Amino acid sequence: MIKVWDYLKEYELLRDDILNAVDDVFKNGTLIFGPKLDEFETKFSSYHDSKYGIGVGNCTDAITIALKALDIGPGDEVLTTSNTAVPTVTAIVNAGASVKFVDINKYSLIDVTKIENFINNKTKAIVPVHLYGQMCEMDEIMNIAKKNKLKIIEDCAQSHGATYKNKKAGSIGDVGCFSFYPTKIFGAYGDGGFITTNDEKLYDRMKRIRFLGMEKKKMSSGHWNGKYYAVEHGTNSRLDEVHAAIMLKKLPYLNEWIDRRREIANRYNRELKDFEIELPIEHPDNKHAYYIYVVSHPERERIMSGLLKKDIHLNISYPWPIHIMDAYKHFVCSSCTCLKKTEENSKKIFSLPMYPTLTDEEQGIVIKELKQLI
Ligand SMILES: Cc1ncc(COP(=O)(O)O)c(C=O)c1O
Repeated sequence: MIKVWDYLKEYELLRDDILNAVDDVFKNGTLIFGPKLDEFETKFSSYHDSKYGIGVGNCTDAITIALKALDIGPGDEVLTTSNTAVPTVTAIVNAGASVKFVDINKYSLIDVTKIENFINNKTKAIVPVHLYGQMCEMDEIMNIAKKNKLKIIEDCAQSHGATYKNKKAGSIGDVGCFSFYPTKIFGAYGDGGFITTNDEKLYDRMKRIRFLGMEKKKMSSGHWNGKYYAVEHGTNSRLDEVHAAIMLKKLPYLNEWIDRRREIANRYNRELKDFEIELPIEHPDNKHAYYIYVVSHPERERIMSGLLKKDIHLNISYPWPIHIMDAYKHFVCSSCTCLKKTEENSKKIFSLPMYPTLTDEEQGIVIKELKQLI
């Protein structure tokens, strides 16, 4: 069987390191907010060229916390794309804001030429989604933000280690939000998330919101220094010591794993380029980290079921744009025609197996069978 995603081979490689890291945490006696989280926050934010980092429970929380810390909520509008994972939108709605969807370009990323059509006096932020492993056109986005006084929260859930003009994901906007969901480029063994920023004040506020809006306060008696006191309404979203310790063991491999993903993508590009299938386009300013390798073909169901018969498993990210889903269709009018490319793509895209431990032989089989079906 060739899976569309797999972590078991990676686990075999790192098993001893990971189990020792977990054992160290258990023996150490601190399970939440301890030295492993401090070390991981420093190292992961520095890897993403950011001054400050905050470990959180998942990326959905990360985006909501960022919006709340930026005072974006009820009555405000946030722009993003509709071909993203549901949680991008869940997070915006959790903050109390409304969503406006902008169509996508040939890279499947927010079409920067269309953003300004959606800006009005309620618009407060843009959440550019660095989808599939490559970053949006951040210079244009930052210019629009500056001109219209908007905040930028980069959704980096799928783009660990990716760069735009040599700048890392999560280092350009006001805030960067990462997911460590197991399938991601840098996945945990469960849920996890991360926030990056270069703004100290924002960092302090996001850190406080992550932990129930609390700070340590002295009692009037002068005793009991450091008792927790809620300064504002927050939430509870923490990356625990076990996960911080595991992610510290994985971080040294991240560049190598991204290089391997790029190598796999290059081979797909090379060997499929003369066939009638649309391949992903890497923006000239980008280093694509290839979270997934997304192709398009009008007969996707036939191809996917043909490959499944050969025990080759593919995936669709995502078969439905968010703006047609019952939960969120009220954000667009029923005759909406401004998300044409998003809708067209959703009907033909699918992703080929992509992960660092996919072997050359397995990839060769995928390519051979796919060519035959095309
Ligand atoms: C683009 C995008 N944004 C946000 C998320 C949410 O991440 P998490 O599952 O860590 O909350 C995901 C994960 O599926 C994602 O792919």
